[in-house]
Amino acid sequence: MLRSIRILWGTVFGAMMLAPVLFAQPQPSSHSAGTVLRIQMNKPVAQVSPTLYGLMTEEINHSYDGGIYAELVRNRAFQDNSNHPDHWRIVRDGNARASMQIDKTTGPSAALSSSLKLTVQQADDADAAGIVNDGYWGIPLRANTTYAGSFYAKADHDASGPVTMSLVNNNTGAVVATVMVPSLTAEWKQYKVTLQTGQIATTASNHLVLSVTRPGAVWFSLVSLFPPTYDNTPNGNRIDLMEKLAAMHPAFLRLPGGNFLEGDRIRDWYDWKKTLGPLLDRPTHPSPWRYRSSDGLGLLEFLEWCQDLHMQPVLAVYAGYSLRGEHVAPGPDLAPYVQSALDEIQYVTGGADTKWGAVRAEDGHPAPFPLTYVEVGNEDEFDRSGSYDARFAQFFDAIRKAYPKLQVIATAPVKGRTPDVIDDHFYRTAQEFFEDTHHYDKTDRSGPKIFVGEWATMEGTPTPDMGAALADAAWLTGLERNSDIVIMASYAPLFINVNPGASQWVPDLIGYDAVHSYGSPGYYAQAMFSNHLGNEVVDSSLKGDAPLLFYSATRDESKRTLYLKVVNASSKPLPLEIQLIGKDKPQGTAAVTTLSGHSMEETNSLAEPARILPVKSAITDVSSDWKRIFPAYSIEIIEVHMR
Ligand code: AHR
Repeated sequence: MLRSIRILWGTVFGAMMLAPVLFAQPQPSSHSAGTVLRIQMNKPVAQVSPTLYGLMTEEINHSYDGGIYAELVRNRAFQDNSNHPDHWRIVRDGNARASMQIDKTTGPSAALSSSLKLTVQQADDADAAGIVNDGYWGIPLRANTTYAGSFYAKADHDASGPVTMSLVNNNTGAVVATVMVPSLTAEWKQYKVTLQTGQIATTASNHLVLSVTRPGAVWFSLVSLFPPTYDNTPNGNRIDLMEKLAAMHPAFLRLPGGNFLEGDRIRDWYDWKKTLGPLLDRPTHPSPWRYRSSDGLGLLEFLEWCQDLHMQPVLAVYAGYSLRGEHVAPGPDLAPYVQSALDEIQYVTGGADTKWGAVRAEDGHPAPFPLTYVEVGNEDEFDRSGSYDARFAQFFDAIRKAYPKLQVIATAPVKGRTPDVIDDHFYRTAQEFFEDTHHYDKTDRSGPKIFVGEWATMEGTPTPDMGAALADAAWLTGLERNSDIVIMASYAPLFINVNPGASQWVPDLIGYDAVHSYGSPGYYAQAMFSNHLGNEVVDSSLKGDAPLLFYSATRDESKRTLYLKVVNASSKPLPLEIQLIGKDKPQGTAAVTTLSGHSMEETNSLAEPARILPVKSAITDVSSDWKRIFPAYSIEIIEVHMR
């Protein structure tokens, strides 16, 4: 029996270690006795793609607004509904009398040409009137924290005011933080304030109030409240979600979708130029996932997100097909969209001396971003008109001519041109993934490379359960084994706000509400895979009958390390004889990381975020021919160091 010392992983993957815990080795199942895994240590058979593990993202399930984008005010620019200030309500203390309505005749900018008009008939120092925002399922506030508030406003006459911005606890009515702007003018102007909390308990049960104490009319727009963000970036991202992504060490970020790229109709396409510059110049736009996108997280913020997490962008450009079946005819009609894609590439990669590079510099980022891959469209096999072949050719030719070094990704099979890469998507049951881990074994190596741009085991809600994580991991062993051809893979969707009514798609890798977040078992499985990857696949073979055993063996010669990943998706422990063949001999000890559950249905949740976590241990009896019993429902990674 192997001796193992296991160490529980902390809530941030791999960051905290708790006291060592001793575990007994599980008892073997009888049916799998005699299973032998032979690994040829000195026989690399394929290169591993250094970009294999990355992220796919789009605005779905409140991934950005109410998700990673840290803005706390919902419908901040009153654009969500042109007739009604959704997510806002009026507040009148005592004898105050007031009403509010959308005013389409005035706004602070051309892009935000409407606003919210607060008309106050009666208010005084004792009885204020105002507007209230409940945030994205609450406004999360923490103790002793500074919040950056701001709003645009104008009044019906100069020197009107004051306006007070307050953060108020929903349950107690306690004013948690407050600040006063002494007066407004009759012109649109931005007011910036800071709000400081004291010794409070963390909760999302808060709302934001903008109130006045004098009769008159006041117009508001772009009411904003930011907590501290990742790296203290203004207009930045939520810290806990960024940390969870950072722990995965993703190589790339596929952006901005997904269906979000396409929009429901052509008029709703992701027009990246409208997501740049001051928030005042971003008109917001309807997304196909049934809510409007603030576009506060715009193209530059995507790129900075990549920069923060050392990922390369995989830039998807709109290719003239939208979800409800409309398409732009190839030829002159499509030309403006092709030009937009070229402009977008220049915005990302051009020097400050180029037209769009100069815009990026003006937006605050003079240095160009690295870019290798451009994806033309999304899931264009759904375009029943058959126009993708010609649309792709038009984009491909233009991109190739202007940027010969870029790799161009097609989203569906095409005949007219040979794409550098094809994007394949898989949404499947666990059973389907278990049965198809050899999907790419026989793929023609002389054809385009493969990007598995979206994939997921569709089991567990709202996030994948242990069974899904096992199938995910099994599927990934197949992608790793074939990562000479499968150069990138990204699970989708990445995020879900688990509040009632917030989501459109389950399951999703990482769940959260306004205050807390958690990784699903699938999240931990992927982080484990991504963090333990060699650069060469070594030859291996399996003898014996173990239908729910999946594995991958990669090595990093420079580190003298073999990464052996074993997935036992069976309900029984699995004894395995492991033969490490070759001139290299293993050191006796190896580090083991184990993710396991008691059942396929077991899972993590907001209430139990740490039910299933990777556990670290060490084993000491590794040899050229050794035995290990893999627990039921487990994913294990063994790092074997060679002498
Ligand atoms: O990931 C959710 C959706 O699934 C994506 O937006 C789309 O590309 C796919 O159909």
